[in-house]
Order: sequence, then structure tokens, then C-alpha cells
Amino acid sequence: MSLIKIFDTTLRDGEQSPGVNLNKQEKLEIARQLERFGVDRMEAGFPASSKGDFEAVKAIADTIKNTSVIALARAVKSDIDIAWDALKGAEKPAIHVFLATSPIHMTYKLKKTPEEVMETAVSMVTYAKERFSEVEWSAEDATRSDWNFLAQIIEKVIDAGATVINLPDTVGYTTPKEYGELFRFIRETVPNIDQVALSCHCHNDLGLAVANSIAAVENGATQVEGTINGIGERAGNVSLEELAVAFKIRSDFYSFETGLKLNEIKRTSDLVSKLTGMYVQANKAIVGRNAFAHESGIHQDGVLKNAETYEIITPEMVGVSSNNLFLGKHSGRHAFKDRVKEFGIEFTEDELKQAFDQFKKLTDHKKEVTDDDLYTIAMEVKTDSSAVSKYQLENFQVQYGTENVPTATVILKTPAGDVVENSCSAPGSVEALYQTIDSLVEEDVKLVDYQLNSVGGGKDALAESHVQLVVNGETVNGRGSAQDVLQASASAFLNAVNRYIIKVKTIEKKELVK
Ligand code: KIV
Ligand code: ZN
Repeated sequence: MSLIKIFDTTLRDGEQSPGVNLNKQEKLEIARQLERFGVDRMEAGFPASSKGDFEAVKAIADTIKNTSVIALARAVKSDIDIAWDALKGAEKPAIHVFLATSPIHMTYKLKKTPEEVMETAVSMVTYAKERFSEVEWSAEDATRSDWNFLAQIIEKVIDAGATVINLPDTVGYTTPKEYGELFRFIRETVPNIDQVALSCHCHNDLGLAVANSIAAVENGATQVEGTINGIGERAGNVSLEELAVAFKIRSDFYSFETGLKLNEIKRTSDLVSKLTGMYVQANKAIVGRNAFAHESGIHQDGVLKNAETYEIITPEMVGVSSNNLFLGKHSGRHAFKDRVKEFGIEFTEDELKQAFDQFKKLTDHKKEVTDDDLYTIAMEVKTDSSAVSKYQLENFQVQYGTENVPTATVILKTPAGDVVENSCSAPGSVEALYQTIDSLVEEDVKLVDYQLNSVGGGKDALAESHVQLVVNGETVNGRGSAQDVLQASASAFLNAVNRYIIKVKTIEKKELVK
């Protein structure tokens, strides 16, 4: 079995998904979980793109000790310098320098000749190598580049000190056969290729990202780049969990394995989905809600007789557990703390107090508090950036009756500390609530998307709401959870407005790469 290295870019390419804007705490929590999941490298962000990204990458670099932390940089000195500033505290820092090599990118985006691109790539890899012992170089849009040009530039950047060469399918255009052949060609043509790791990076525009990545590995790639749940720019990146499970389940056929701990898949997927607000579609392979559900009578009957009739993956393998341990009204602080610790979450005394108070409030209404509920509470507390003053929901009331027009009354505390109140009526309860909050916040707000889900099953399940707003022209996501659907909805709305405020206060003007 050959060990394939896993390069996770959930926090960089994944965070480029429209509307996703993770704060530093959220990124740190995801980074910790990626470390537990066993990724070999995590791309923590693009430090030169914004102050917020710089700080998040720095915090991750200073915290994560068992996984190499990598930062993205354009092929310009200032990006490389900023990346070094963010990463110098890391145990295993690495840089990822990219430059486009396709005719369309070189002509229209870079406005450079192939010779100029070659010279920039070599000089910037040389420059990066003065600081970093690990330098990955990416030929952006490799799959639409001239193969002979690729071979020449790769040979030169390896001579300049690159340790990893990545051939991204930036626009998700390639096919398994073609991508496999590209890797084979590069392996066979570039004389010094054996000195480096060869990496693939697939986008999923044609739904081929997993197949393309596997084809690359079969033809000499030793590293796969991707994200959790396949999130990312446009149709996203390759889903790492799908790739890893495919290698495991078809180990009779593939001679590749990864170092990922497969039983951490579910938790990692849930965390990323919760914090990014990007729900996983029910029928998604490996992590979708229906991935292990059997609907037809014939299938159910077969599974009861022998699970392997219709089940090729056990839920347990990927960390989906059926025997949830419940906590309840009588569970003490110790039991609560221990349970949360099993998720890998360490609380400070203050966080523990806040989380335990929320747990106790929940047990007033809910008999059995599940792991999912606990995880939701723990993450709310862990990822709250309470240092910045923002809007706080003091109180609200919604009157609804089948014969009445719903009316909401909301009392808010503003970031300036004023307490403001208003009431509005609208055809729906959530609409009335949102109109009222909208009338009280100073920012110009438009609701783009609203979602409501239950955390687990049962009539008394926690409600979790995700919204996408455009606040003063910027797209932001927000989330909120509560026992009551309206409270969860109000919290999600305010959470999005507050994220905008935090972003502005920390001058997070994010300029996305592509
Ligand atoms: O898809 C891509 O080309 C990228 C590069 C920055 C590596 O994400
Ligand atoms: Zn990408």
C-alpha cells in the first residue's frame, strides 16, 4: 500500500465558498478537528488577502503542532513575506506559491508572456525557499496549460527549491483519463520530478473531482488536496472523506491508503457544516443524512438478514454512532465536562460556566440532551467572538394566530450600548421578526437565504437556523440555535449582522484569489 498525503484546504479554498466567512475562533476549532482527523497538511488561509486571514493563520500556526500548517501566497515577494510572518511560530511551516500557466490566464489575467511567467515562478520559489524549507508550487489552471510548457517550468522551479509540485484543475474541466495522462506525462518527462512530491487539486464543476484525483494518484500523484464535505469555490473541491473511504472500501482494487482516521469523518463533516452554514445534501456520499438509510422494503429486508447485502460501508467506520449517550437534568458539571472533552473540546473555566449554564437551560425543556445538542452548545460558546461589542437580543415576542397578522416586538442592545425597541407586522412570523430586527439595526440588510433544521430528532430537538444576508453590500452567513425556532431564527439573523460588524471592525476586507 502506498501512503497518499492529504492536504486539506477547507480553511482556504473551502472558505472561498460564497458567503462563508469563518472567524478566527471558528477556524481554530476546525483546525483542531483537522489535526485530530489526521490530515498531513492544512492550508490555513491566505494571509496577504486580509488582516483577518493573517490573524487566523497565525493563531493556527501557533496552536497546531502535529500537522504541517501551510499558507497560500501569490508569486509576489510581499505575499511571501506576510505568509512567513503568519507562519513563523509553526512547528512545521510550509508555503504554497501559485502562478497561472494556461494561455488564457497568462494573456488576460497576468498579462505576461510564458517566459515572464517562467522567470517569476523561478524567482519567487527561490525567494520563498530563503525562509521556508517546504515550498509547494502550483501551476494554476494546469489542466488548460500546454503540457510541454508545464514540463519546462516544473523542472526549473524544482531546481529553484520547490519540494511539492501541484497541478490544479482550477476550473474543474479535466476528465479522469486526461488528468491521469497529464500526471504520467509529467512523471515521465520532467527529469528531476522524483525529488519532489506531486500533488493533485481538483474542482468539481463537472462532478468528476474524486474520479480525477484517483486517476492522478494512479498515475503518480503522491498528495491529494481537497476539502471536507467538498466545499469550495463554485461547485467545490474534491471531498476528502469520499476519496479516503473509496481507498479503504476498495482496498482490494486500489493499493493506496491515507493516514486519515476514518471514524473522525462524521464529526469533522458536522463541524465544518455547522460553522460554515453549508448544509450537506441528504444523499451526499459518506456524510449525507441518507448515506446509510434504506428505504425500499426489499433493501430493508436484505439488510436485516445480512447488512452487507446493501451496505458497503458501516456507519461506525465513519464515526456515525447509533448508541448516543444522553445527558439530562441530573447530569452534573463533571459529566458535562467529560462528555465535551471526548469531542476533543477543552473549555476555559469561563467557557465551561457559559456552556454548562446553556446546557442546564436546555434540560429544563429537553429530557435527553444528545451529543449533537452538546456539540452545538459547545461550538456556540467556543466560537463566540465576544470581545467586540455588537448587537444583543434582549427580548422579543411574536404574536401569531391563524386569523391574525403576525406581529413581532423586539428589544435590542446596540453596539453603542443603547437599548432600542420596535414592533412590526408581516404575513409570516419569521418575516415580522426579521422586519423588526431590520428596523432596529443601522446596517442595510437584505435576506438572501434562510434555513431551519433540527439538531437530531424528536419533538423537543434543538432548532438550528442558518441565514445568508447581504449587509451593506457584503454577503455574510449567520447561524443560531435554540430550543425555539423563532429564537434560533432571530439569533442567526443577528449573528450575521454581528459578523459583518466584527469584520469591519477588524478591517477584514477580503479579496478572494479567484
Ligand atoms: O484551484 C486552484 O488553482 C487553486 C490554486 C490557488 C492552487 O486553488
Ligand atoms: Zn482550488
